[in-house]
Amino acid sequence: MTVRLSVHIDSFTYPDGTAALSDIRLDVARGDFCGILGSNGSGKTTLLKIMDGLIKDYAGEVLLDGDDVRRLHSRDIYRKVGLVFQNPDDQLFAHSVFEDVAFGPRNMGFGEEEVRQRVETALQSVEMTEYGGKNIHNLSYGQKKRVCIAGLLAMGHEILLLDEPTAGLDPMGEYRMMELLTRLNREERVTIVMATHSVDLVPLFLHRLHILSGGKIVRGGVPEEVFSAPEEMANVKLRLPHIAELIYRLKHEDNLPFERIPLTIGEARREIIETMKHRP
Ligand SMILES: Nc1ncnc2c1ncn2[C@@H]1O[C@H](COP(=O)(O)OP(=O)(O)OP(=O)(O)O)[C@@H](O)[C@H]1O
Ligand SMILES: [Mg+2]
Repeated sequence: MTVRLSVHIDSFTYPDGTAALSDIRLDVARGDFCGILGSNGSGKTTLLKIMDGLIKDYAGEVLLDGDDVRRLHSRDIYRKVGLVFQNPDDQLFAHSVFEDVAFGPRNMGFGEEEVRQRVETALQSVEMTEYGGKNIHNLSYGQKKRVCIAGLLAMGHEILLLDEPTAGLDPMGEYRMMELLTRLNREERVTIVMATHSVDLVPLFLHRLHILSGGKIVRGGVPEEVFSAPEEMANVKLRLPHIAELIYRLKHEDNLPFERIPLTIGEARREIIETMKHRP
């Protein structure tokens, strides 16, 4: 396993005295598709900004392919790592959609034809092809989110850090965004870390999960492991995926003999059929 990002944060406090993170130990391996799951204010955005080298005054060390990100030139970080901000208005700045998505690849020195192709492919990926000429300010929130992600896709990073990439997207858009990220991860071998509180989507797509609460990672592992302790999820102001919650209650409150707690509709369907078969 090649570790691409190795995160050791002993502590980080914002200038106003807010203690945002402590005792973080997190390795992101090549090809990972992992999630940072946590409620509002748990420190997800802060952690992603540290990983991207935007916040530097913490105690600890973050290594990108073995190099301390605080010693790397920002150009060398951005060659490998792309961060999609939580709020699209913090990211978008050009007048038109095309110009915004084109900014990154142009800056990387690609010729105009290559830039045009990259922008087209990226807009296609996020289903925004027909909006190229549109004024950024007139886009809806979900459309802005998609354009932000297109901007990163057009640069072709090896590592993508995404801060709530599905927040504000409609249900289909949410699902498609996760499918797009899965495809990038599988086919283009992009390493992905995403912050989210969408517990229902996570088990369908992510390989690994880290639960952040009060600035600490309190639990980590594959989704099945992480979601096996509903009380703990409640303690950190999160819940189980809806389907898992339903089966958990049927098992523990109505004494139905489910063997395991499924995390997806498909698993639940199989589990229910199995359980029904064995009923007297
Ligand atoms: N620039 C800042 N100055 C001072 N405190 C900050 C700053 N940014 C964030 N914080 C505080 O740090 C803590 C972690 O914030 P952060 O934005 O990382 O949380 P989050 O998990 O991303 O939350 P959300 O789900 O709402 O996006 C919060 O208590 C927040 O109030
Ligand atoms: Mg955040």
